[in-house]
Amino acid sequence: MDIKNNVTKIFKNFSHKKYLKIEGGKFLKGNIEISGAKNSALVLMAASILSKGEINLFNVPQISDVSIMSKLLITMGINIKSNANQLTINTKEIIIPPQDLFFDLCNALRVSFFCIGPILARFGKAKIPLPGGCSIGSRPIDEHIDSLKKLGVIFQYRNNYVIAKVINPQKRLLGSSINFKCKSVGATETLLMAASLAKGKTILNNAAEEPEIVDLANMLNLMGARIKGAGSECITIEGVESLKGCDYTVIPDRIEAGTFLLAAAITRSTISLFPCEPNHLKALINKLELCGCKFEYSNFCLKIIPNQILNSVDITTGPFPDFPTDLQAPFMALMATTNGISKIKETVFENRMHHVKELNHMGAKITVKNNIAKVIGVKKLQGREVTGSDLRATAALAIAGLSANGKTIVKGLEHLERGYENFSEKFQEIGASILKK
Ligand code: UD1
Repeated sequence: MDIKNNVTKIFKNFSHKKYLKIEGGKFLKGNIEISGAKNSALVLMAASILSKGEINLFNVPQISDVSIMSKLLITMGINIKSNANQLTINTKEIIIPPQDLFFDLCNALRVSFFCIGPILARFGKAKIPLPGGCSIGSRPIDEHIDSLKKLGVIFQYRNNYVIAKVINPQKRLLGSSINFKCKSVGATETLLMAASLAKGKTILNNAAEEPEIVDLANMLNLMGARIKGAGSECITIEGVESLKGCDYTVIPDRIEAGTFLLAAAITRSTISLFPCEPNHLKALINKLELCGCKFEYSNFCLKIIPNQILNSVDITTGPFPDFPTDLQAPFMALMATTNGISKIKETVFENRMHHVKELNHMGAKITVKNNIAKVIGVKKLQGREVTGSDLRATAALAIAGLSANGKTIVKGLEHLERGYENFSEKFQEIGASILKK
């Protein structure tokens, strides 16, 4: 099989368009269909490595991160078929990938590092490139490494690669008790996957509680794993000998849903989202209610009804169930247009305020000190040419453009396409003037 050829042919390429052109000031109206969660889909794809059976994943978003992850699995000899939002992943055969290609793909996607858990669990050894730099901060991997060491793995670092090996002669990970120093989504997921095939029991203390972790545990349990407590800070995993294939549907993307709620609020528009799980969005909904938005919910359909005048409120980001860092930038765009002064404190990542300069270029009044932004609301933002520096910052600038006077050009579409399926098309359907150019 010519892997390089396969990788370039199978999945569509993104980012052939360069920017968004938005005419602001339009009211939005109608229903939005929420896609499957990016952060779930990516880790469920990594988890498929654990089984020799076939995994059918439904509701997978067609975004460039999923495309890169698919290519990465294909370089490992894994057979993947895609049909709209369904992926069929057959992991019976796995090979050592061509290193140059593997290196480039891993560098393009931090979550690729999360494959280390399932590769170690299945093969007893792994060689994975260190995750590349990221514009929102240093994003260390010490929690992944330290906790895998407790399961019996030794590590070496060579030429930007992590080389890991299970030390016991049976090459099987051994269950252990782990106390994470900080709540990390990725480290919790790495350990859930690794410990599922370990010998004996693993206890994860101070585990992250995000809905995507519950989603992963649910799929692993369907594959035959024995995991209890996912969604709380203590998770117990009884290791099993092997895992089988399964059919699984990815949960709705709470960050995409949150972005649309904020777009509705910033344009003072009433829209409905389906399917939507409000329990995944409690922190955002509470804050939007304090601003002056009302909500109606039934049968997985969430409707937002904002007042025409919204008030400023403060937020502090944190691990779930606290306010998600992934919605900090879009929330700041809203606060730039509300009545009063808002304090926005970022505690998860040390360098996630790049959007401030661009929002100020649109007429916002924001100053930042020690990762706390002080946002003085203005009556109207002004359409300008701005550039998104990461996925969520680009989304924030786009929703700012939807509410601004005149034309906004948002560059950085390649970031947006990493995580939002049909972003501009969905907004067009509810009345926005937004074009990909
Ligand atoms: C995941 C999400 C990302 C989200 C983030 C926080 C995926 C694919 N991505 O990223 O969208 O913004 O959670 O909700 O699910 N940390 C360490 N050592 C480690 C690992 C993490 O100190 O080994 C720190 C990080 O620097 C950060 C905090 O823990 O300050 C949270 O990071 P983490 O939850 O690990 O983020 P990711 O899993 O990378």
